[in-house]
Amino acid sequence: MTTHTSVRTTEQNLIGKAALVTGGSRGIGAATALRLAREGAEVAVTYVNGKEAAGDVVRGVEALGRRAVALRADAGDPEDAAGAVTAAARELGRLDVLVNNAGVGVLGPVETLSLEGVDRVLAVNVRGVFLASRAAVAVMPRGGRIITVGTCMTQRVPGPGGTLYAMSKSALVGLTKALARELGERGITANIVHPGPIDTDMNPAGGPFAAGQAAVTALGRFGTAEEVAETIAHLAGAGYVTGAEFAVDGGHAA
Ligand SMILES: NC(=O)c1ccc[n+]([C@@H]2O[C@H](COP(=O)([O-])OP(=O)(O)OC[C@H]3O[C@@H](n4cnc5c(N)ncnc54)[C@H](OP(=O)(O)O)[C@@H]3O)[C@@H](O)[C@H]2O)c1
Repeated sequence: MTTHTSVRTTEQNLIGKAALVTGGSRGIGAATALRLAREGAEVAVTYVNGKEAAGDVVRGVEALGRRAVALRADAGDPEDAAGAVTAAARELGRLDVLVNNAGVGVLGPVETLSLEGVDRVLAVNVRGVFLASRAAVAVMPRGGRIITVGTCMTQRVPGPGGTLYAMSKSALVGLTKALARELGERGITANIVHPGPIDTDMNPAGGPFAAGQAAVTALGRFGTAEEVAETIAHLAGAGYVTGAEFAVDGGHAA
């Protein structure tokens, strides 16, 4: 009897490509950086507070045989948001993929949200993505990919407290579609991924609001950062997909 050993491999579609993942020190961003590297890409990540965590991601990418760099850049700061893109392109020698992942989730009754809170969420979740995307367009060759992380709450809001967060992420749907139209003739695509409840520091599967979130998904569970990274990596390699929204939400929107 012959024994067949099956070895699961990842396609290396991204060899020779360079990617920037904003907010890549933890959670979905860190998983994405590692996944893109497994598929062959050189990777830059940004962080704000997690210098050590970002260093761990850099070492993880390097262990896969790819070049990596961590850049401290606050997506809420206009100079940092654009500057991280030019720095990544400079450090890696090119930029083919931008993953707009950095984001903040501020939830609460609409009357309780402060003006400062509103401005900060819009600065990080919306303006930072716009400025990073604009800077990326200036350096990306044909075949460039802009992939933005939205939320399942742009499609369905299952309870109260999400006005600011859902509003901010919904702006990214319009940005993505408009970018797709504007950049199509340059061979650059723009797509948006909407995660459902994903087990990260931002939204732990053991947190106080976790059971209710899992219950509104069709699969009845939280997703993992790696499950979101898988779709982002697919889009980084896909040529004929643009202006599209992808729910990676366990059926939250179903
Ligand atoms: N987890 C979920 O259930 C869920 C669901 C839908 C959408 N999302 C979206 O997915 C994205 C990632 O979320 P996550 O759950 O992975 O979050 P997370 O675990 O809190 O990680 C956030 C990452 O973003 C970085 N970051 C935060 N503020 C930043 C800023 N101003 N500039 C640059 N980097 C910043 C953090 O870096 P430092 O720690 O170094 O500061 C960290 O690497 C966000 O856009 C979030 O809105 C998450």
